[in-house]
Amino acid sequence: MARALPIAWLNGTWLPLAEARVSPLDRAFLFADAVYEVVAVYGGRPLLVDEHLARLARSLRELGIADPHDDAAWRALIAGLVERNRSAAPDGHLGVYLQVSRGADTGRDHGFPADVPATVFGMASPLAAFDPTGSGLRAITAPDNRWARCDIKSTALLGNVLLRQAAAAAGAQECIMLRAGRLTEGSSSTVAIVEGRTVVTRPDGPEVLPGTTIRLVRSLAPACGLDWREEDIAESRLRRADEIWITSAMRGVLPVTHLDGKPVGAGVPGPAWRTIAVAYERCTRS
Ligand code: PDD
Repeated sequence: MARALPIAWLNGTWLPLAEARVSPLDRAFLFADAVYEVVAVYGGRPLLVDEHLARLARSLRELGIADPHDDAAWRALIAGLVERNRSAAPDGHLGVYLQVSRGADTGRDHGFPADVPATVFGMASPLAAFDPTGSGLRAITAPDNRWARCDIKSTALLGNVLLRQAAAAAGAQECIMLRAGRLTEGSSSTVAIVEGRTVVTRPDGPEVLPGTTIRLVRSLAPACGLDWREEDIAESRLRRADEIWITSAMRGVLPVTHLDGKPVGAGVPGPAWRTIAVAYERCTRS
């Protein structure tokens, strides 16, 4: 894990991350009562910023937290994090993290407080250039035991955290989750499978986060000669797939070469991934 870059934003102030402080009564700390976004920035340009801000606004709406900023202010915050951390990330490749909590009340009460300002936090991390020649990763599978509103990008990520750790303990880099015998998503990624020249993803719904990266990848598919279908994916189909991809803002689109220790397809990044990865890499540069 790369160390976060030095300058952060907290409640209207730029400051060294090492000096940022929030109250222990903050509801993010007490209840994980908060939402977040992670935006990839390449060469100083945020990728899919409209989509990330729309999803942030939706997450806030779903939790009944008033959006503390308008669109222009969010964009300025992202630009400010890029600019102020430029000397530590001269290539302009960063992951920007934004978090909004319901704020800090005067005590601990499950019910929403009245008239408490949201806590807004922003920081950045270094991000490597996307590599369309990468060797892929290993994944395990596990039952999806998270709550029933995974479409909200909330900081309540304990389920995801435990499953990611289970993957790490097994020498893998991602955990792909199954609920009632069907694919949901990765612990921090969307999952797609490839059958021949067709990419298949499951429909959005309360069980999964609507991914921004997968939408971009989908828009690239026709020019790569790939068809796209959206339907539920049974476990048996996941295990038979020619290729499995994971997508996220921080990782782009990556091939899973081994699932539960068994090779996916030939056990190396597949031809469909190699085509889409080149197209995705182009997007990170334009
Ligand atoms: N997570 N599903 C889950 C559970 C995720 O945590 C993420 C991304 C995605 C992919 O969404 P997007 O393509 O918009 O990044 C799907 C971020 C990167 C994170 O938690 O760090």
